[in-house]
Amino acid sequence: KALQQEIDEAKASTLEEVDELRIKYISKKGKINQLFSDFKNVPNEQKKEVGKAINDLKNFTLDKINNLRDSFSKSDSGTDGLDLTRPGEPVKLGTRHPLALVKNEIINIFGRLGFAVAEGPEIEDDWHVFSALNFPPEHPARDMQDTFFIEKDPDILLRTHTSSVQIRVMEQKEPPIRAIFPGRVFRNEAISARSHCIFHQVEGLYVDENVSFADLKQTLLYFAKELFGEETQIRLRPSYFPFTEPSAEMDVSCSICGGEGCNVCKYTGWLEILGCGMVDPNVLEACNIDSRKYTGFAFGMGIERIAMLRYGIKDIRYFFENDIRFLKQFESAI
Ligand code: PHE
Repeated sequence: KALQQEIDEAKASTLEEVDELRIKYISKKGKINQLFSDFKNVPNEQKKEVGKAINDLKNFTLDKINNLRDSFSKSDSGTDGLDLTRPGEPVKLGTRHPLALVKNEIINIFGRLGFAVAEGPEIEDDWHVFSALNFPPEHPARDMQDTFFIEKDPDILLRTHTSSVQIRVMEQKEPPIRAIFPGRVFRNEAISARSHCIFHQVEGLYVDENVSFADLKQTLLYFAKELFGEETQIRLRPSYFPFTEPSAEMDVSCSICGGEGCNVCKYTGWLEILGCGMVDPNVLEACNIDSRKYTGFAFGMGIERIAMLRYGIKDIRYFFENDIRFLKQFESAI
């Protein structure tokens, strides 16, 4: 009985310890065989009973040892064929989209000049995209040719430029206002290597007392040098936009040939990269900003065009096809 209890309580933490138990109890010289050899001294009338008890004890012990052994080989099979010391699979990093890289760079440059970032909706009304921006009712940009209309009378449409966000911000905020508005815009244009019906712009707006054209020019010069390099020069050419007066288009000296002339700048040495001007007083008034007290400048640029110059991308359609061979070539996401 005492021996049965001892065996019952026996523990083993390794297969070798199980084997030791086997030797200790049921091998030839083990404790149970010892009982068998003492068996001859048992009085005849008790032999039957004692014999059975010893046999039961032996079976009990065999069961116990087999169970212990099973429990080890079971927990073994949990890691069977699995090498826990093997190095892990490397985690593949994604890459940032080239348009996101350029957008973030632009945001950072203007951030250093104190420009905040704001956004507006892609689905807009006529007021924010055209009327408040001083477009006359018959302006060709409203034409079905250029604008994707969603509803007519009142007109709901996909914005054709991020200038709509100028209006939304000026309607909501008193000057001083100094912010940029990155976003996606839509124009009903045939898709080719050079143009797409979806593209991205970054708009800039600065409205305060005494904002001058000289402030605009200096801001854009700083931007161009930060983005394309310290040696970059800018050139402002007179232009026309309904919402700015005076208006200009800005060229930067070609960063590819350094102004020497190449096929990217069509041998002019200059690349057009944005439109800009002083905010038209009619636009300020449409947003309830006193145009006698405040002036402002605005500018807008296409991100695709800058990214194509930056990375030497020849076809705008690559940006929207999500071909992994194209995307993998850009900076890793971390
Ligand atoms: N919205 C104009 C465009 O899409 C760019 C622009 C913005 C021009 C702000 C002047 C001022 O072409």
